[in-house]
Amino acid sequence: MKYYQFLSLARKINQNDNINKLILANLLKKDLTWIYANLNMVNTDKNFLRKYLSLVKKYASGFPFAYLSGHVFFYNYKIFINKNVLIPRNETELLVSRTLYWSQKLFNLVPLKVLDLGTGSGCIAISLALKNPEWEVFASDISDKALKIAKLNKEFYHLDRLNLIKSDLFSNLVDEKFDIVISNPPYIDKSKKNYQVNNLKYEPELALFADNFGLGYYQRILKSILNFTNKDFLISFEIGFDQKSELESILTENFQNYFYWFEKDYSNHWRFLFISSRQL
Ligand SMILES: C[S@@+](CC[C@H](N)C(=O)[O-])C[C@H]1O[C@@H](n2cnc3c(N)ncnc32)[C@H](O)[C@@H]1O
Repeated sequence: MKYYQFLSLARKINQNDNINKLILANLLKKDLTWIYANLNMVNTDKNFLRKYLSLVKKYASGFPFAYLSGHVFFYNYKIFINKNVLIPRNETELLVSRTLYWSQKLFNLVPLKVLDLGTGSGCIAISLALKNPEWEVFASDISDKALKIAKLNKEFYHLDRLNLIKSDLFSNLVDEKFDIVISNPPYIDKSKKNYQVNNLKYEPELALFADNFGLGYYQRILKSILNFTNKDFLISFEIGFDQKSELESILTENFQNYFYWFEKDYSNHWRFLFISSRQL
């Protein structure tokens, strides 16, 4: 059977022809240009056809394409992923970009020591490390399975400077002090677990849900974070779109001596919190 016939069969399962082509390209370990150039090529392997159509079916039932392809591009870097880690989001790229912006204002290009707390695939830590060859970057996660993927990404980029650490928040980082702590912690309200929207049901619960209306991780992190920061510091968090005012209450109680501000994402939602030792 020719590849264009594979695509005709796939179309009966899933109307999105582009995705069907991408799934085929991915399975063949080729790119889209190759698929277009070889639509008339014959492949007689029935197992291959069966496997291809089962992947198309999986996608049609809601399984994320990113997990099928096994990688995403985050901040222009290829990041390998699997179902044990959150699929990196566009908003998080903006968090990285804004953190770089503020870090330049605050630190004036000195070599910095940085922690990405809850690193998952390692997307944040790896982008920061690749953008800043002189930085020493730590990436922690409580999940062994996530750390395995972060290690794969670390090795792909030969990032010896990246220290991967298994840790429940700061528990295994007791002797460390950082200039920047960046985190995209789980922040979806645990009580909403049962109403999970379709596009979240394939991602690890450990990466998504938090106690206390989704604020649990921020509360735990903010309680002790100042023990792990240097005198000059920048803290950057991704937050849920409806969490600004609750976080403000926590901050006005405990961070009066510091400077904090919120920023919006591309959809005009308050999605980032920055705390710093100095006014910027
Ligand atoms: C929302 S995901 C973020 C992953 C990645 N940083 C990103 O932005 O795509 C949160 C991560 O925090 C990790 N995590 C959950 N509880 C944790 C804990 N107590 N200590 C450290 N990491 C934790 C999860 O395993 C998950 O990888």
